[in-house]
Amino acid sequence: MAQAIRKAVFPVAGLGTRFLPATKAMPKEMLPVVDRPLIQYAVEEARAAGIEEFVFVTGRAKSAIEDHFDHSFELERSLTESGKLEAVKELRAWMPAPGQISYTRQQMPLGLGHAVWCARNHIGDEPFAVLLADDLILAGPGCLEQMINAYQEVGGNVVAVEDVPRENTLQYGILDVVTDDGYLARARGLVEKPKPEDAPSTLSIIGRYILQPNIFDELAMQQKGKGNEIQLTDAMARTIPKTPFHGFRFDGTRFDCGNRFGYLEANIAFSMVREDMKDRVTQIISKYSE
Ligand code: UTP
Repeated sequence: MAQAIRKAVFPVAGLGTRFLPATKAMPKEMLPVVDRPLIQYAVEEARAAGIEEFVFVTGRAKSAIEDHFDHSFELERSLTESGKLEAVKELRAWMPAPGQISYTRQQMPLGLGHAVWCARNHIGDEPFAVLLADDLILAGPGCLEQMINAYQEVGGNVVAVEDVPRENTLQYGILDVVTDDGYLARARGLVEKPKPEDAPSTLSIIGRYILQPNIFDELAMQQKGKGNEIQLTDAMARTIPKTPFHGFRFDGTRFDCGNRFGYLEANIAFSMVREDMKDRVTQIISKYSE
């Protein structure tokens, strides 16, 4: 049986340029979908999958994230004094226990691969998960839980994948598939952001990964790839001769909240699954569709 996944890395040091000016002073991962920030969904998904240690790779202007996962004494006190005890209970319910959460800083946004490498001392020599909070996934059970179940069967490196229209391959890491049972696709190679005509498939990697610790040996080379960034995809591709690599088709819907339309759609989808909101949201949408 594959070794258990106990730790997760949350890279949150990107500049979020596609969402300016919203992300000028506020991290993209703090953008709310309905009533909670993106990063909270990711942490809750990880916790539901059995993750015990949460490692954030932060950068400048990211202190709001640290504050979000800490007590706010003034707020809790004033809620308590005004008798809003349910709200206090709710705030405390998802707070990681002391020592469960740690932060490291990526001083320069040199790419996702570099951000993950910055977490190496917190991870040590065990397999771990990586979650990109701006890829928000509506699923039950959560995407990472589904992936960990699949990982127990095949081990190695497992990433979440979905089929994208061929004209969009330029935005993703793409699998060069050797076998595919419609659920797990084994890859013999990966290509970061290929042109549609060069893409070996349309199976694209989205923001959930289960990685073996040997990825850090590859990332340590600090090789730059597409966009002059240290790419996680390139490092994963180099592990393939040593470590099996599978793409996992999860059951659920993923929203790219790093762009405006994906973010807007996520707000609609996440409010439509809430019994207390869906009627009113349907009315609002029809008002603007006339
Ligand atoms: P993106 O590719 O979405 O980049 O990063 P970005 O900088 O956040 O956003 P845009 O493209 O400028 O709008 C994917 C994930 O990797 C993290 C981001 O925070 C995001 O969660 N990341 C990216 C880092 O932590 N460090 C980096 O150097 C790059």
